[in-house]
Amino acid sequence: MTFRLPRHPRPARSSLRPPTFTGGLHDARTATAVGRWLGVAFAVCFATGLVSHYLQHPPDWLADHLPTRPSWGYRLTQGLHVATGLAAIVLLLVKLWAVYPRLFAWPPVRSLRHALERLSVALLVASAVFQLLTGLLNIVEWYPWPFSFVPVHFAVAWIVAGSILLHIAVKAPEIAAHWGRRSSGTLELPAESAVDRRSLLLGTGAAVGVVTLTTVGQSFTPLKTFDLLAPRHPDHGPQGLPVNRTAAAAGVSERGLRTWRLEVAGPRPYALTLDDLLAMPRSAVR
Ligand code: HEM
Repeated sequence: MTFRLPRHPRPARSSLRPPTFTGGLHDARTATAVGRWLGVAFAVCFATGLVSHYLQHPPDWLADHLPTRPSWGYRLTQGLHVATGLAAIVLLLVKLWAVYPRLFAWPPVRSLRHALERLSVALLVASAVFQLLTGLLNIVEWYPWPFSFVPVHFAVAWIVAGSILLHIAVKAPEIAAHWGRRSSGTLELPAESAVDRRSLLLGTGAAVGVVTLTTVGQSFTPLKTFDLLAPRHPDHGPQGLPVNRTAAAAGVSERGLRTWRLEVAGPRPYALTLDDLLAMPRSAVR
């Protein structure tokens, strides 16, 4: 007995056209809805990052005017910085998922204006991914790169901020058309898309909520019981502060402390040993 294998149609010769995406949620309404929250998260992250930077590296003209109170202020701004940065990771993933078909649009470049627009989107995506990824690795103190984290993180923050503003300006007509509860113009989508989008946004909100709840306890002590994913914990250390690095991890040893000096620069520079510091009167600030 002979068997004939079924004939498969020959695969078509590979065409240069990319596949078409038909998913209802890869649309401007979803991009706007997620983009709004992403914009807020990046704005808060950028502002609190600037606070941190200028408190630690104040320009001369500002140094004498920066507030030192309330003592919990820095904890609040840093807590917000890390929380919004972590939330932005979830939002960025959803946003990129919503818009990725546009990255394969054909033809890839239609005009000089379109080429420049795509270049700005490439810069936006690269800088946003870089910023969030390096920020995430920084909180777990893993530095698998040859550059110094702080100056690069600070510089790239400006690139992200600038490219988000440019992106919003370029997409302004689409953002305006899809900002409200109902999209305006001729781009109305079928009712099922609205249900799917609501589910996607609810799922995204829930994911952001879980990430925030399981990390924010490192700065917001009432929620420290839920602090499961954050690498810092407010209970590590004598002052109830979430420390970046313990003394042991930073290599501070008994022997090192004997020769340690605090050098105070200024018009009348002086140096203090640890014993000098310990002999000084103490005061507590809340
Ligand atoms: C880090 C922040 C952001 C990133 C990485 C990002 C990324 C992208 C990418 C890769 C595209 C597709 C590129 C293209 O259409 O040429 C896109 C499209 C779009 N984005 Fe953003 N975006 C961000 C923030 C925002 C914000 C804050 C808004 C305003 C609410 C927004 C609204 C839109 C809109 C309306 C589109 C067009 C979607 C479409 O027509 O299907 N984006 N975004």
